Amino acid sequence: MPVEPTSPPTESKSADRPVLSPKPRVLSGIQPTGIGFHLGNYLGAVRNWVAMQDDFDAFYFVPDMHAITVPHDPATLRRRTRESIAELMALGLDPARCTLFVQSHVPEHAELAWVLGCITAYGEASRMTQFKDKAARSELGAATVGLFNYPVLQAADILLYQADQVPVGDDQRQHLELTRDLAKRFNSRFGGTFTVPAPYIPARSARIADLQDPSRKMSKSRPPAGTVYIQDDPKALAKKVRSAVTDTGREVRAAEEKPGISNLLNILSTLTGRGIVDLEATYADSGYGAFKADVAAALVEFVAPIQQRYRDILADEAGLDAVLVAGAAKATAVAADTMRRVRAGVGFLPLGSRSG
Ligand code: TRP
Repeated sequence: MPVEPTSPPTESKSADRPVLSPKPRVLSGIQPTGIGFHLGNYLGAVRNWVAMQDDFDAFYFVPDMHAITVPHDPATLRRRTRESIAELMALGLDPARCTLFVQSHVPEHAELAWVLGCITAYGEASRMTQFKDKAARSELGAATVGLFNYPVLQAADILLYQADQVPVGDDQRQHLELTRDLAKRFNSRFGGTFTVPAPYIPARSARIADLQDPSRKMSKSRPPAGTVYIQDDPKALAKKVRSAVTDTGREVRAAEEKPGISNLLNILSTLTGRGIVDLEATYADSGYGAFKADVAAALVEFVAPIQQRYRDILADEAGLDAVLVAGAAKATAVAADTMRRVRAGVGFLPLGSRSG
């Protein structure tokens, strides 16, 4: 049957998504690399994902296919993918209230990435700053085609699910712009197929800095002394906070010239829900030592129940398997529907069809 070209959808509405849920759809992903998630991942991203589960039709996934764009160890990837799902659940993602899945369990991601790659200009992909940065760090010529294609795969992740909004950090803005361009391009060439996603800017988003170098964002790629991992034990947490770089003087006050103290205040404020001004008043006469001890205590108190849940989730292997299977099924239902339309749109011959 010939495919009737349909008119492109309006920006915020999907082409013809069945109106099963009136909630806007959000989608985001977090890589399974490294030791585990850190406080910056949680306070800057995952905490918002958790809060969005009820008001949005939320899709969250672990992009293991993105993780192989740089050299990796298969056994570690396998273990980390599982642990990442468990850790996201321990942090509050609830598979009963969101669609939680592993990217490679839904092969449509790769299939759509191929199609989108064919409407992406080489020059356009070459302008992606994250690729340029990463490529510059590897040996000359050693950066892979997969790494080059990373943003196109990310666009596929988003467009497959007809996401309305995508919560991402600043470093992913350019990838989201590319995604929007590709969605509009596909829609105008082949008929309205994709929702054009908008960035989601959360009302409260904490930007957590490295404890050893508060001028930089907390990151898994920085030395562990400055990065607070959710799975750190109490002793390690206390040590990291105690040795956190502070500023000269002894006033506990948020100020531009006091980035170290400001960062710790920010952490304590987001963990306890207390305002910065309130905290400044509390610690007005106490000096850095007592303040740091309280930050460490708040962190220990915060991670303890999360670590317990994490261990319980990982220990229940069958339970975790069931979560993965159910998540893959829910995701596939949506992805397969989009891919059917994409295949028809670009003109792939349906199997067993004599017309078209
Ligand atoms: N590139 C993202 C990051 O490093 C992870 C990611 C992959 C993602 N696919 C996505 C985020 C789709 C949002 C939507 O943070």
